Amino acid sequence: MQTPKRYTVTAALIYANGPIHIGHLAGCYLPSDIYVRFLRAKGEDVLFVSGSDEHGVPITIRAQKEGLTPTQVVDKYYGVIKNAFQDFGIEFDIYSRTSRPIHHQVAGDFFKTLYDKKIFTEKVTEEYYDETAKRFLSDRLIVGTCPNCKNENAYGDQCEKCGSSLSPDELINPHSMLSGSPLVKKPTNNWFLPLDKLQPKLQSYIDSHKEWKANVSGQCQSWLKDGLRPRAMTRDLDWGVKVPLPNAEGKVLYVWFDAPIGYITASKEWFEQPETRNAVSYGGKPKSNNWETYWKDKDSKLVHFIGKDNIVFHCLIFPAMLMVHEGFILPESVPANEFLNLENNKISTSRNWAIWLHEYLEEMPNKQDELRYVLTAISPETSDSDFTWADYEARVNNELAAVFSNFVHRTMVLTQKNFASKVPETKQYTKEDILVLEEISKFPERIGNAISNYRFREAQMEMMNLARVGNKYLSDNEPWKNPDIERVKTILNISLQICANLSILCQPFLPFTSEKLRRMLNLGAMTWSNAANTNLLPAGHQLGDPVMLFAKVDPELMKFQIQKLDKIKKLADEENAKLEIGNQQSAIPPQKDVTSFDDFNKMDIRIGTIIAAEKMPKSDKLLKLTVDTGIDQRTVLSGIAKYYSPENIIGQQVTILVNLAPRKMMGIESNGMILMAENDKGELSFVLPNKDGINNGSTVK
Ligand code: MF3
Ligand code: ZN
Repeated sequence: MQTPKRYTVTAALIYANGPIHIGHLAGCYLPSDIYVRFLRAKGEDVLFVSGSDEHGVPITIRAQKEGLTPTQVVDKYYGVIKNAFQDFGIEFDIYSRTSRPIHHQVAGDFFKTLYDKKIFTEKVTEEYYDETAKRFLSDRLIVGTCPNCKNENAYGDQCEKCGSSLSPDELINPHSMLSGSPLVKKPTNNWFLPLDKLQPKLQSYIDSHKEWKANVSGQCQSWLKDGLRPRAMTRDLDWGVKVPLPNAEGKVLYVWFDAPIGYITASKEWFEQPETRNAVSYGGKPKSNNWETYWKDKDSKLVHFIGKDNIVFHCLIFPAMLMVHEGFILPESVPANEFLNLENNKISTSRNWAIWLHEYLEEMPNKQDELRYVLTAISPETSDSDFTWADYEARVNNELAAVFSNFVHRTMVLTQKNFASKVPETKQYTKEDILVLEEISKFPERIGNAISNYRFREAQMEMMNLARVGNKYLSDNEPWKNPDIERVKTILNISLQICANLSILCQPFLPFTSEKLRRMLNLGAMTWSNAANTNLLPAGHQLGDPVMLFAKVDPELMKFQIQKLDKIKKLADEENAKLEIGNQQSAIPPQKDVTSFDDFNKMDIRIGTIIAAEKMPKSDKLLKLTVDTGIDQRTVLSGIAKYYSPENIIGQQVTILVNLAPRKMMGIESNGMILMAENDKGELSFVLPNKDGINNGSTVK
């Protein structure tokens, strides 16, 4: 795209089902805030929207767990989350919520437009139903025992303990999380978005964005390569945006249909309901005069900031929706981040393995910029990264305190002492001074380029490099020792100019510090390009009093934080140990419910032979097998990687359930299931005929 006239920037609408932690901040809120602060400082026209996603199963699950209604849950967490963002200086123009009437209207209209254009296909499918609760169940609302690790609280789509992806049929003793009832299936009709038909258009859209981050393009290409399938855009639930059709009682829009439309709603709301706007402290408001400009004018650049688990929805499904609706621009960039870990372990809400923003603020008040700085320094831009308190301490002490704060403080104190806090004048520059001035004038562009290209780590490092240049200049020139008063004036003048530039250039990263620094320097609002000016503070300008911007981290506080995590880890270990004991006692699973001969007879079990085998990338459980079933040769994924290596099982005879519904795992479709015997230690063995001549295709009954 040519230079855009304006920017529409979105940050993911997070589920309002719990407080937020450092992983959320690092994932998309800090990067988007830095990006927008930079654009605003340049005087660009930008609309920055976000809000809470208040529909979908995650909300109903939380309600169930806390004994609240979904409305009570979202009301509670909307405020908690909104405040946390505000406290950390994340400055959205609006922080909306998808439960607002305006959103139900906008999302419903969007659906109706596609419906009237005959975009959807209506299909009847068999879905899980809870006869006690009288409602359909999504995979997340089905629980049972994990076939792999025996965790009794595995979900119908995934076991959170061992990480394996599951389907409800694989769970031992599957039942409804809501009522505990066993599962039944019932037919229901839903409206599907034919992503398969849209595939060619989506392919060329993705292909036209070769500049996207590799992690983002890679995921999109892999989805496209597997082939997109129609996806239901409605669900049988009572919590969500009602499907705006007469024959759709008890149905709501799929949460991933309504949520991204929330970005559009929030934009509309900013213009049409000004009372919902947030105050923005630095830089201007959106300049255009209606929401449509930000969504329909081809000179507007739409940028979505998200975490990696949201990529497919923002790069394929939402663009598909916008394409078929027509009239909208498409996302121009989707700079998704990978995940942040905490002390080498995956952040987990259920295990309380996280640093919660509201707790951080209570325990370490007024240190928002420290956390912002550290999280940007380790931002998971290209791969997962790790937050540790040791690293936090080192960065605050060695960078923020020893370089940034120390430089500013020395400059301010010396000016106060020698010149009554008035900017001294310069009569003459040395060669070295001229070199330094030249060097510092290059930073705004260098930092700006990195931000424009979503390289926030690099951008912040360059900002810190400017502080380093200043710190070194001051130390090399030692004005405190110099008897030549004219020289001292020049050195402090240059140092003060660097402080002024820093106050502008640190603003996207360290907004609270920038504000303090500007107040100290008695400097009015500045634009980004002002920072290239090396004479921002004229001689004679009156400065404020020096204040310390950053101090070294209190070692007691670090001890406290580390002990706090240790305690959480201990608790989790104890829980695990209890679970293990429980599992050992009931090592032989009880007999399952009686099944009919007819049901058994529906299963088509055959003898086959593995003719090819390889490890599935990124999985330590799955092998990808090619099995000759006598009927055909097909791909089967099997969770046996811990017990069998691929090279040893080629030629191995197997017993295989061939008519199991195909299932996609990690992007690959599995067509059948290898039958395995499992002992009480979880060890696996093939189930085999014990006689020669039972060839491929032989039946088992
Ligand atoms: N609620 C989703 C999550 O927390 C994100 C939704 S982003 C939007 O993962 F595009 F749908 F708005
Ligand atoms: Zn498991």
